[in-house]
Amino acid sequence: MSVDGARTTSCGRPTTIVIFGASGDLTKRKLVPALYNLHVKGRLPEGTRIVGYARRSYDGEQFRGLMREGTEEFSSATFEEGVWEEFEANLYYARGDLSAPGDFGRLRGTLEELEGGPSDRLYYLATAPDLYAAIIENLGGAGMAGEEEGHRRVVVEKPFGRDLASALDLDRGIGAVFGEEQVFRIDHYLGKETAQNVLFFRFANTLFEPVWNRTYVDSVQITVAESVGVGHRAGYYDNASVLRDMFQNHLLQLLALVAMEPPASFSATFLRDETAKVLASVRPVEGAAVKTATVRGQYEGYREEAGVAEGSGTATYGAIELYLDNWRWQGVPFYLRSGKALAEKSSEIVIRFKSLPHSMFSRSDGAGVGPNVLGLCLQPDEGVHLRFEAKVPGDVSRMRPVDMTFHYADAFGEDAIPDAYERLLLDAVGGDAALFIRSDAIGLSWRLIDPILKAWENDEVPLSTYAPGTWGPEEAEQLLARDGRAWLRSCGGHERSRVEAAQGTG
Ligand code: BG6
Repeated sequence: MSVDGARTTSCGRPTTIVIFGASGDLTKRKLVPALYNLHVKGRLPEGTRIVGYARRSYDGEQFRGLMREGTEEFSSATFEEGVWEEFEANLYYARGDLSAPGDFGRLRGTLEELEGGPSDRLYYLATAPDLYAAIIENLGGAGMAGEEEGHRRVVVEKPFGRDLASALDLDRGIGAVFGEEQVFRIDHYLGKETAQNVLFFRFANTLFEPVWNRTYVDSVQITVAESVGVGHRAGYYDNASVLRDMFQNHLLQLLALVAMEPPASFSATFLRDETAKVLASVRPVEGAAVKTATVRGQYEGYREEAGVAEGSGTATYGAIELYLDNWRWQGVPFYLRSGKALAEKSSEIVIRFKSLPHSMFSRSDGAGVGPNVLGLCLQPDEGVHLRFEAKVPGDVSRMRPVDMTFHYADAFGEDAIPDAYERLLLDAVGGDAALFIRSDAIGLSWRLIDPILKAWENDEVPLSTYAPGTWGPEEAEQLLARDGRAWLRSCGGHERSRVEAAQGTG
């Protein structure tokens, strides 16, 4: 089996998707709505069956009812009774204990009966992460990982481990049962069209690649900001913090997309080789450097949220300055920040180009000529913004920054962007691992996060607080200000760009 090709499934065989933890939120909010959307678009391979598996004692009808509710509420496709009926005809529920080996023997029997012959299978681990190891072991014990009767693939949700040691442990457990080509470690950010567009923007155009390096780039900023607080997920989040929840996976994967060398082709091996190379080149922030290169914050009121431990020191905000030790990026700071309860939901990558070596123009307000700024806008205002100086008409030498913008909604229509899970589920069913995390990248990213985690947990970096609805703690501004820089916003509605441009700010 190749993990490089597009879709290696079928060979005429149908697929069974088995969702472990089917009574949980992820299944109802994301997985089943995404599968329904794929069905609506006719993209789900013919004969695909979906089997929910969990401990709750639902019968099939109750389960389908719950999934219907989830789909009506969370699917981006219009809900249609007739289409749902077609879809739910292939939706089943099996009850069992995830940590009981005997129950997997029964599940195997149920699946074989349902399939009635050779079938590919995708096992999706949508449970609490502390159950992953047991499920994998039980799948192995019940003889459900062997590929004699069709492909057997397993999707592992994040978080993948709590630190380097536990991630390696989990990986060893998985490796004892499944081959690496059977394992699909998910990071839903890679399923976002706009994250993939970073690669298209860089490698399907000639214009930017020549300046995509230390000679022309001053600094790179990656922001993944959320306006919501911890919500009902404190049980998980209070033990995870922003470092495990966002940095170890989403932010480092985005960094890899921005900084990687051009892969030889858009295929799993080449893409993931470049990801590993770039992560390996990130200089770890260790020892005394953690204090100077990172900021951790907690929003005011976090400790009063339901489920948060009394006096919790969990960071809900982080900012980190990283350097890459390679020829392309030597000396260029990569500033990463993420947090909850911030001013806006916005994920963007901002490339700040170097300032002019000498200017023959000056701004009427006395400010220096601003740098060119490129914004790769991941969400919610999906697109690309390029900021440059323009001459103000009717004036001899006045200028001001303006934005040239591309918006997905304008170019491809309002509903053009599918949910990330649609793409990832389809790829996993088809055996294409390009947008999934390979084992080596997991280790490489934990290697970067571990020393920061440890220093934060030992209080070596003070925990700053910030008011909800702001852009985080003041210390994060200072992190950049000491190098004469500031956090930049490039993305946002047309309206904001116009206002900022008019004011010469942003
Ligand atoms: C998840 C995190 O991986 O990503 C959540 O666990 C976070 O805490 C979410 O809210 C953000 O995803 P998105 O797609 O809304 O940016």
